[in-house]
Amino acid sequence: MKGIVLAGGSGTRLHPLTHAVSKQMLPVYNKPMIYYPLSALMLGGIRDILVISSPSHVSMFQDLLGDGSRLGLNIEYAEQPLANGIAEAFLIGAEYIGNDSVALVLGDNIFHGPGFGRLLNKEMSEVDGCVLFGYPVSDPERYGIGEVDEQGNLVSLEEKPVAPRSNLALTGLYLYDNAVVDIAKNIRPSARGELEITDVNQVYLERGQAKLINLGRGFAWLDTGTYDSLLQASQYVQVLEQRQGVRIACLEEIAFRMGFIDAEACYALGSQLQRTDYGKYLMEIAGRD
Ligand code: G1P
Repeated sequence: MKGIVLAGGSGTRLHPLTHAVSKQMLPVYNKPMIYYPLSALMLGGIRDILVISSPSHVSMFQDLLGDGSRLGLNIEYAEQPLANGIAEAFLIGAEYIGNDSVALVLGDNIFHGPGFGRLLNKEMSEVDGCVLFGYPVSDPERYGIGEVDEQGNLVSLEEKPVAPRSNLALTGLYLYDNAVVDIAKNIRPSARGELEITDVNQVYLERGQAKLINLGRGFAWLDTGTYDSLLQASQYVQVLEQRQGVRIACLEEIAFRMGFIDAEACYALGSQLQRTDYGKYLMEIAGRD
């Protein structure tokens, strides 16, 4: 399975923070925001990743992540010139995806919860159609929404409904079989002029091939769309990291634990940052395990 991180958009809702930098490059406590969605793909076992961003921002991500080899990844880059919608990622990435299945994650989505890696691994290995991840929220009108029946089967989808039929928001993590490329080629822009991911998912739903997994209330899916939610995401990471002494979305650690790099490589990455707690942490876990 291939992975795509979509880190586009102009971030206008966060100006002036995002006037000169990409939203997905902003700090969430001690790491750039893109580390968090990237960590989700890695926890699922994905090593081939395409980062899509706007033309003026691609070089920043290249500076940050390079070709991914230090993390045992293969990272490539592509541009999304205009904010034409999430589903455009499959047109931009069509050649990259080839005949593979694909996981798409939005560059500003933060996931954290027990067993997440195992869940992703399992779902990624058996994807047939599409797999969506739902999360109960108090403000469903801000998101794509999934409605499920009593058995938990997905029955309807709506993008930012005025009167939501459920409180299950569709998070920005989506797993697809290879049909997604053709489906995305055949949808038309919505009233707001975007190729909507919800319209892609609707095709799968009509084919009886859309599955929704409710991540549930014990899980954290965090938003970074406003000044306050951005700060709250940082505080969430700070509280858990300090309390538990472990790190959330520490890419070097994940690469090590997933077997993408060995202990020696993890230690070497830590020693390059040895004046930071982040670097010391990497040296310590590499030495301990
Ligand atoms: C997008 C999707 C929406 C989804 C959300 C998750 O919204 O269109 O369905 O719930 O991401 O972050 P947007 O960020 O474009 O408003």
